[in-house]
Amino acid sequence: MCGICGVVGHRPATPVVFEGLRRLEYRGYDSAGIATLNEGRIERRRAAGKLDNLAAVLETQPLYGTTGIGHTRWATHGAPTENNAHPHGTSRVAIVHNGIIENFEALRSELEAAGQVFETETDSETIAQMVDFYLAAGQSPRAAAFATLRRLEGAYAVAMIFAGYEGLMIGARHGAPLAAGFGDGEMFLGSDSLALAPLTRRIAYLDDGDCVVITPEKAEFFDRNGEPVERAIQTTALIAGAVGKDGYRHYMEKELHEHPLVIGQTLQRMIDPATRKVVLPDMPCDLATIPRGVITACGSAYFAGMVGRYWLEEIARLPIDIDVASELRYRNPPLTPGSLGMLISQSGETADTLAALRALKGIGLPVLSVLNAEHSTMARESDVVLGTVAGPEISVASTKAFTAQLTVMACLTIAIARARGTIDAAREDELVTALLDLPGRAEEVFSRQADIRKMAEVVAEARDVLYLGRGSVYPVAMEGALKLKEISYIHAEAYAAGEMKHGPISLIDRTVPIVATIPSGALFEKTLSNLQEAKARGGRLLAFTDEAGAGRLSAIAEQTIALPKVHPFVTPIIQTIGVQILAYETALLKGTDVDQPRNLAKSVTVE
Ligand code: F6R
Repeated sequence: MCGICGVVGHRPATPVVFEGLRRLEYRGYDSAGIATLNEGRIERRRAAGKLDNLAAVLETQPLYGTTGIGHTRWATHGAPTENNAHPHGTSRVAIVHNGIIENFEALRSELEAAGQVFETETDSETIAQMVDFYLAAGQSPRAAAFATLRRLEGAYAVAMIFAGYEGLMIGARHGAPLAAGFGDGEMFLGSDSLALAPLTRRIAYLDDGDCVVITPEKAEFFDRNGEPVERAIQTTALIAGAVGKDGYRHYMEKELHEHPLVIGQTLQRMIDPATRKVVLPDMPCDLATIPRGVITACGSAYFAGMVGRYWLEEIARLPIDIDVASELRYRNPPLTPGSLGMLISQSGETADTLAALRALKGIGLPVLSVLNAEHSTMARESDVVLGTVAGPEISVASTKAFTAQLTVMACLTIAIARARGTIDAAREDELVTALLDLPGRAEEVFSRQADIRKMAEVVAEARDVLYLGRGSVYPVAMEGALKLKEISYIHAEAYAAGEMKHGPISLIDRTVPIVATIPSGALFEKTLSNLQEAKARGGRLLAFTDEAGAGRLSAIAEQTIALPKVHPFVTPIIQTIGVQILAYETALLKGTDVDQPRNLAKSVTVE
C-alpha cells in the first residue's frame, strides 16, 4: 500500500526510480510522482492515476539528477489528485511516505501557526513541512529529519531528499516496511525487495523505529533512540526476471497457472521426501498439549484460516477460535492461556494482522505465522514462521498465495494431529499422499478452463451472484465471491449452503445465478438438496463439483464443471482454483482492470 523507491548514485535517477515504481505499482495506483535534485534544486513531476500518466508527463518534462525519490499512492487522506500526489515538498525538502500520520491535524495546526504554508490535504505533507521548518531554522538535514520523526505518531515508511545535498537521502520506518539496497557506488531505498530486484540483490531491512542515512557509498542505520546500529545485509533470492508476465495477458493469469508449482514447492518445504512426514521447525509450544488455537488474518488469508479451522478441528481435534484480524484486535476476547496463535498473511505487512499479532503476543500467546514474505515485519515478530513458497504475487487479487496458505495449513494440521495422537501412521500417510497428489491434479484443472469461460458468460451478465458451499468448501465459496467482487465489480455473497433457507433464498430468481462448490463426499447430498430448493424457485445453478459428482449435478445445474476428483481432505484446494478462474474469466468479459482493480491495493499497511 503505497510504494516507495529512491536512489543516490552516479547515473540518472529518474529511469531507476521509475522502474522501481513500475514494480511497486501493485501497492497503489491512485497517483504517482518522482522528485530529483537537479543541480541541487528540488524538482518534482506528479500525475493522478496510473504510472503511465506519470510517464507521459516525464516525456515532455524530463527530470534530471542522480538523487531521486518516487512514490505510487493508494489514497488515504486527500483525493487521488495530482496536487495530493507524492513527493510532497518545499524548496528545501521532498518526501515520499507510505502509511498514515495519525497526529497530522495537530502538527499541521502547529506548523501553520508557525508560518508554514501547506499545499495539499494530505497527512503526508506534514512531514515535509516539519522538516522544512527545522531546516529553515538552520538545522542540518539529519537533525531536521530526526527531530521530525520524533514528533510523528502513526505508521510510516518515508524517504527524504534535501536541496543542496546531492547524494544524501534519509529513510525511516515505523509500522510500514522499508529496505535499503546496496549497489556499486550507488544506494537505494525501496518498500520491498521486489522494487530493488533489478538494481541489487544485497538488501538490509530496517527494523521498526529505524532510520537510515544513505549516500552513494554507504548506509548508516540508527535505532528508535537515535543510537547507531548494524543491520545485516542479506542476499535476496529474487531476480529481476521473476516478476515478468511470461507471455500471459495478466499477472493474475500467470499466477493462476503457477498454482501447481507453488503447491509443489510448498510441499517440498514441509514434507521430508525420505520419511514422507511433515517436518515443522522448532515450535514455541508443545503441540500435544495446547488447549486451543486462535486463527486470525484478513481477506482471502482469513478464508484460508477458515479452511484450516475445519481441518484442525476435524482431524487434529484442536478447538479453534477464529476472527478477522481487525475484529479480533479490538474484541478483547477471553482467550484460553497457552493457546497457539496462528496468523496468515501473504505480505506479512497487513496492518490489521500485524496489530492482532502484537495483541496475541501481548497477552502471552505463542504466535506461528504462515507467511509468503519471509523478511516481513510479521516474520520478524512471530515466534515461528511457516513459509508459503509462492514467490512474488503481483496481481492485487491473491491467487497462488492462497492455495499455498491452504497447503501449509493442511501440513500443519497433519503435524498437530500426529502430536495430539488423533491420527495414526496409516491415516497420516493417506493425508500426505493426498497432498503429494495435488500439483498434478491442480494442473488438470486448466483443461476445464474453456468450460469455466462458458460459465463466466452467465456470471458476467448478472448484477448479483450467490456462492454456496458446505463444510471445508464453504470458505472456498467465500473466496470465490470475494475474487469476483474484487476484479469484476459484480456483487457476490457467499453463504453456507444450509443457510439459504434462512433468508437468502428470497433473492432467488433468474437474474441471480448461484455458483455452488459441491464436491462429491459426505456433504454432497445435503448441499444437493439445498440446490434443488433453489432450482425449484427458478434459480440458475452453476456448479463446481468433481468427476464423481458431475452426473447427479448435470441433471439439475445449467452448467457443471467436473474438477479432478481428489481426496476429500484436499478438495478445497482444487475447488479454489476453479472459482478463481471463474472470477478471472468473468473480469475478462467485463473488461475490467484485472491486475489492478479500482480502489484496491496490495499489502494493506493502514488499519
Ligand atoms: C483478496 C486479497 C486480500 C488479501 C488481504 C490480506 O484477493 O488479496 O483480501 O488476502 O488483504 O493480505 P495479506 O495476505 O497480505 O495479509
